[in-house]
Amino acid sequence: MKTAITEMFGIAHPIIQGGMHYVGFAELAGAVSNAGGLGIITGLTQRTPELLAKEIARCHDLTDKPFGVNLTFLPTFSAPPYPEYIAAIREGGVKIAETAGRSPEQYMPALKAAGIKVIHKCTSVRHSLKAEQIGCDAVSVDGFECGGHPGEDDMPNMILLPRAAEELKIPFVASGGMADARSLVAALAMGAAGMNMGTRFIATKEAPVHDNVKKAIVAASELDTRLVMRALRNTERVLKNAGVERLLEIEREKGSKLQISDIHDEVAGVYPKVMIDGDMDAGAWSCGMVVGLIHDIPTVKELIDRIMVDAECLIRDRLTGFLGAESKASLKVA
Ligand SMILES: Cc1cc2nc3c(=O)[nH]c(=O)nc-3n(C[C@H](O)[C@H](O)[C@H](O)COP(=O)(O)O)c2cc1C
Repeated sequence: MKTAITEMFGIAHPIIQGGMHYVGFAELAGAVSNAGGLGIITGLTQRTPELLAKEIARCHDLTDKPFGVNLTFLPTFSAPPYPEYIAAIREGGVKIAETAGRSPEQYMPALKAAGIKVIHKCTSVRHSLKAEQIGCDAVSVDGFECGGHPGEDDMPNMILLPRAAEELKIPFVASGGMADARSLVAALAMGAAGMNMGTRFIATKEAPVHDNVKKAIVAASELDTRLVMRALRNTERVLKNAGVERLLEIEREKGSKLQISDIHDEVAGVYPKVMIDGDMDAGAWSCGMVVGLIHDIPTVKELIDRIMVDAECLIRDRLTGFLGAESKASLKVA
């Protein structure tokens, strides 16, 4: 399939694996890129720029296809050394960055000077337009369904994607709630040039996380995510578990007076406990409503091949089948 996104990133299929803390290691990014999608290493999971450089080198060993690095700009006072992380990306010969969190404006000159294409993740049309204005090459439009941080507008993709298509000149992919060929074809119909998946890629053979995480995703339904940290305006969609129930109880008690320190134990240092140790009740970890659509643990290649084959069948058989022989004629009359 050829779209503005496959052309821009030099990939066979318009499918991106979004950066994911403690999931987006070289094994997963390499597998996605080898299968014809765009794999993304999560920059800040690597505690230092030197470690990121090593992870990039490891990914080059696993694939000769394009892959990217996610840089998440956190709302924090002790910011990670972003210029050094960007240097690691540049020196590692990576030509694609997925940025997220705050606007990448400050870092655009460095990224552009290095010939790096930037796809910025946005949860609103206004942020997408800002990304376009500051020179981003593409946008990943992330609806309210998404795992992780859906922003504060609560705008689902059925509205957000066509609105993005109305306003944007640069290409965009649909992110949040994407799982299969139906997601891809719907996203294309709404004006996107591809899709970005997070949660779906965790339940694959190559995702380097504990089996408990994959099993929890397969077992969960679309009703099993919760929104946390709303009062802090740092909303995150997570999979419910005992730690998240504790967190929500504290949030109910504190109301609008909630401080991040009140929920420290339920949000800090949780990812290694969940993703490496498989402690599923450790606390809050990002997970999308799309868990309701995930029923198996295929290899990345099986997943991507299935999506592309099913998408072609959907378009050729189901969708064109609706038109009927006389449709064109009746359209002409209309
Ligand atoms: C476990 C997990 C960790 C994530 N970590 C990050 C991250 O560190 N940076 C980021 O930009 N997005 C992160 N995301 C968001 C994903 O990149 C992607 O935008 C999101 O998962 C899309 O929604 P979906 O889960 O419905 O596919 C994370 C998502 C998950 C599920």
